[in-house]
Amino acid sequence: MLHLNRDVVVVGAGATGLTAATELKAAGLSVVVLEARDRVGGRLHTDEIDGQMYELGGQWVSPDQTALIDTLETLGLPTYERYREGESVYVGPGGVAARFTGDIFPASDATQAELERLIALLDELVAQTDPAAPWEHPRAAEFDRITFRAWLEAESDDSEAVENIALFIADAMLTKPAHSFSLLQALLMAASAGSFSHLVDADFILDKRVVGGLQQVPLRLAEGLGDDVRLGHPVRTVEWADGGVTVSTDALTVAARHVIVAVPPNLYDRIDYVPPLPRLRQQLQQHQSLGLVIKVHATYETPFWREDGLSGTAFSPYQLVHEAYDNSNHGETRGTLVGFVSDQKADALLQLSAVDRRRAILDSLAAYYGPKALEPVVYYESDWAAEEWTQGAYAASFDLGGLTRYGALQLEPVGPIRFGSSDLAAEGYQHVDGAIRVGRRLAREILDEIAATSTTNATSSTDTTPVTEGASA
Ligand code: FDA
Repeated sequence: MLHLNRDVVVVGAGATGLTAATELKAAGLSVVVLEARDRVGGRLHTDEIDGQMYELGGQWVSPDQTALIDTLETLGLPTYERYREGESVYVGPGGVAARFTGDIFPASDATQAELERLIALLDELVAQTDPAAPWEHPRAAEFDRITFRAWLEAESDDSEAVENIALFIADAMLTKPAHSFSLLQALLMAASAGSFSHLVDADFILDKRVVGGLQQVPLRLAEGLGDDVRLGHPVRTVEWADGGVTVSTDALTVAARHVIVAVPPNLYDRIDYVPPLPRLRQQLQQHQSLGLVIKVHATYETPFWREDGLSGTAFSPYQLVHEAYDNSNHGETRGTLVGFVSDQKADALLQLSAVDRRRAILDSLAAYYGPKALEPVVYYESDWAAEEWTQGAYAASFDLGGLTRYGALQLEPVGPIRFGSSDLAAEGYQHVDGAIRVGRRLAREILDEIAATSTTNATSSTDTTPVTEGASA
């Protein structure tokens, strides 16, 4: 058993953990990052499937994500725009594909007016919601006990408008059915992106990609940390007391002053805490769960939809694939479509054989783009629910009422333990931008605590050593 001494141990080499470790190391502390998988990046993963490069997890960058944009600039990672020239496609309740340009899809005048009304109403509620403290909204208790679907259905009799508004938060963001989370949770999702209108605007929310893939962010950060990142080390136990922690994997232990548990909230409980965490913390952790979405890539010899005047952008609450986009990689002549199947549709799909799943998904793509979509040269489904160290996608959110009961506790430290994740962020919630913000915040908190402790020590005793230094291995 190897034994290390560090100022801070970070559990999880995703964007949150690697950002925190990078900031702490830059400030002169000793760190080690323990990662369960044999790679860094967590929910960011670029891979080659049958010779085709795919981003299997997170990939898009939007203009409001300034923490991520700042990190991309620091790391020297160039971006490129998602292809968006041409018409979009919407499939309505009758199953007919209609092309359109502009913001609102083709529907009756009444439905279009209703959509605009609901978007304006949600924008107003979102403007009143602080993403850092949605539980402080004056109507938080009321908004957290009604499901998003029930609220929408009480607001509107127009089922097509309701289904489409639900889609933008439920299928497309939280990846849970709209009857399983609250209106307040929906407002947080939109507030974290600046407004509900931003979520509806694919040109905003899915603006840019990183040349070579977004996983380069964690890869570059890990490169900077060198041997301080240890792969293949699932953390099993965190023993803690006020003075510090001992963190154990199967093959090593680390004694440290602080630990940052930077894993998705649904996995906090895979670690044994000795002594157990305080009761409310144990309760909180039972109220956050990951959504479920299958991200599908289909690559064709050419981007045939472009020749047909289509941008590749397509969506429908009535289709298995509820949204799809041109996801061709920078500089490639082949064309790639990416589509998403969420929540209960994903449940049903996962019951099918691989052959039947593929057929059902390609049929759905063909409903948007025509029969040429049926014959990809490369095809791949990202199955994050099957990954032991994630167990779903995209991210975690609270159950009904959970946000007002426990939201304020999420980022509260427990002695030397801090919990972090993109799924606890305010701005950039459930996104890489939020992961970076939370990573920076936790690092700053630790540095502030150390500075405060050393000031107290300097005035009250002769011991001015702020933290343990160096490592025994
Ligand atoms: P993350 O889950 O990435 O990292 C946690 C790490 O902890 C993992 O490496 C895991 O292996 C490790 N771990 C877990 N338990 C452990 C243990 N006990 N011991 C040691 N290590 C442990 N975002 C975005 O900005 N734009 C986008 O387009 C998308 N799209 C998207 C698509 C898909 C399919 C997914 C799954 C996700 C996205 N996202 C996204 C979300 C984005 O990927 C996500 O918010 C961040 O990558 C999360 O970073 P974290 O570091 O918080 O967690």
